[in-house]
Amino acid sequence: MDWIVWMLVIYILKQPVKTEENHAGLPIAIHEEQRYQVFAKDKISIPCVQEPTQTSPVIENQIQWFFEKSNGNLNEIHINNNVNITKKANVISFSSVEISNSGIYICKFNNIYTRIILKVITKDSCLGYGQSNQFVLLSAKNTISCPSRLCYPGQNKWKIKWYKNEIEVLERQERITLKLIDETIVLYTTYPTDAGLYTCDYSLFLNESQWTVRASVDFEVGAQDTQEKPQIFHPENGEHVEAEIGKPLELRCSVFFGFERTFNPIIKWIKLHPDFTKDELRQTHLEAPKKNIRGTVHILTSMLDKVTLNDLNSTFICYAQNSVGNTTKVIKLVKKKADIVCLVYILCGSVVLLLMMLVGSGLIYLRWIELVLLYRNYMSKDETLGDDKDFDAFVSYAKQNCDSDEEFIEDTYNEEIFATRVLPSVLESTYNYKLCILERDILPGGAYVEDIVKIIKRSRRAIVVLSQRYINSPSIFEFQAAITCTLEEEPIKLILIEFSPFKEPESLPQVVKKALSALPTVVWNKSNSSKNTKFWKKVRYHMPVKKNLSLEKTDILMK
Ligand SMILES: *[C@@H]1O[C@H](CO)[C@@H](O)[C@H](O)[C@H]1NC(C)=O
Ligand SMILES: *[C@@H]1O[C@H](CO)[C@@H](O)[C@H](O)[C@H]1NC(C)=O
Ligand SMILES: *[C@@H]1O[C@H](CO)[C@@H](O)[C@H](O)[C@H]1NC(C)=O
Ligand SMILES: *[C@@H]1O[C@H](CO)[C@@H](O)[C@H](O)[C@H]1NC(C)=O
Repeated sequence: MDWIVWMLVIYILKQPVKTEENHAGLPIAIHEEQRYQVFAKDKISIPCVQEPTQTSPVIENQIQWFFEKSNGNLNEIHINNNVNITKKANVISFSSVEISNSGIYICKFNNIYTRIILKVITKDSCLGYGQSNQFVLLSAKNTISCPSRLCYPGQNKWKIKWYKNEIEVLERQERITLKLIDETIVLYTTYPTDAGLYTCDYSLFLNESQWTVRASVDFEVGAQDTQEKPQIFHPENGEHVEAEIGKPLELRCSVFFGFERTFNPIIKWIKLHPDFTKDELRQTHLEAPKKNIRGTVHILTSMLDKVTLNDLNSTFICYAQNSVGNTTKVIKLVKKKADIVCLVYILCGSVVLLLMMLVGSGLIYLRWIELVLLYRNYMSKDETLGDDKDFDAFVSYAKQNCDSDEEFIEDTYNEEIFATRVLPSVLESTYNYKLCILERDILPGGAYVEDIVKIIKRSRRAIVVLSQRYINSPSIFEFQAAITCTLEEEPIKLILIEFSPFKEPESLPQVVKKALSALPTVVWNKSNSSKNTKFWKKVRYHMPVKKNLSLEKTDILMK
């Protein structure tokens, strides 16, 4: 069996080694040859590998294209230096194929070489060459015809095939409105997506060799040309636009233009001066139009660098024009209201503030005593500390003489009761003042004049309970003495309480008359017995500042 093994070894060694690569210019083994006959000015793609259609982008880099020169040398086609020839997937595309592009192309893929003979002829050389561009209306029934169908009359043509963007067009279940009938594509309903480049191929024999005749149709789908003038969405006609003098201002105009195949829209802002001369405003921005099948929306912005008084007297016109006609919207500038509104606000604010101040001061005026009492209660220093006085107030009133005043005996509530009971019950018991009531504190029988003056001087205030009886009584001397004391080094203050109305007699000493007319008087009213009434507040207001009694009382209780 050895010879069989040897034979095998020899057989394997005798096999030729596969060449890695065939370089350009060397004789190469052509795997396949194809012939294309195309028409000048068409956008045409030629595939390297016919079937199946290779669309993977990876292939793009694996395919090399060459142009074979007449001497048989190959020139690689570098697509980057030729804008009219592009490579995509397995095809080479001519954006507009020319007679000069005729020749022999060789493509290499997976070490397989394919020779492609390209012959470009003019469309004129074919009698009855069809339309290369078709514009059709959306939704309508349309037919795409192969433009080269009438070429080569009498020749046997076969295998008519349609491609759209390099993909074969076939009748499909999902698209029942598309049918392939004879050399045409029939679209029973045309959709926007039907637009694109269609290529029709058929085969025939010319001079004993098989050729593929390839022609293309640029198929455009659109709406009917508009019958309408442009429509200005914004601004409104007669709109008043607020502007500030000296400030820049942007004017925007947004316009809808209906679909037109040959579309030359005009959109601009025009300033119409008061003397009816016109200026076109500088355009600052024209937004990329928003398109749909019915038309486009354009938004133009123009700029006034500085609004002037003249601008306020001018009108501004947005002008839009298409082939049907023109539309305008006119606006005016008005001085910004904000200023007036602001002014009104400031005015209103001031008035409100003033009113508040008035009301506030009114309140303060009405509540002055309360406020002072409050202040004294919490903030003020006790003015009774540190002076050598023994009493907060000396009370001067008309004393009842058992012998003389029978007529007043029935008066159960007279000034004596007020002075000796009511005053102390409020000022002493509640507010912790120390009163000096002669009958009670000094001499139940009466005092000498000098003693009385001394006692008045030991008091911080003198409370005078005024009545007709008081005016006529000897006690008026105490009033007179107190007035004298107010003028001394350590002055005391007078608190006049009008217990009952009285007439000033002629005999009244001059100083008393003056004091009565100059000093404020607190009027007593019997119903004012409650501690918090105005009467007591007024009295307390005139009394010395003394710290809250309840605090002092609790202090004392604690001790
Ligand atoms: C591309 O085509 C245009 C006309 O379609 C032509 O003028 C131009 O010279 C061509 N460019 C190249 C690089 O062939
Ligand atoms: C076929 O041959 C004739 C003459 O032999 C020539 O004129 C014609 O151009 C050729 N056709 C093609 C497509 O090569
Ligand atoms: C604007 O018009 C008013 C009257 O309408 C006129 O008094 C004023 O002078 C004009 N101002 C300018 C700057 O033209
Ligand atoms: C705009 O249209 C009106 C008719 O609607 C026409 O009279 C006018 O001349 C047009 N303006 C321009 C600038 O074409």
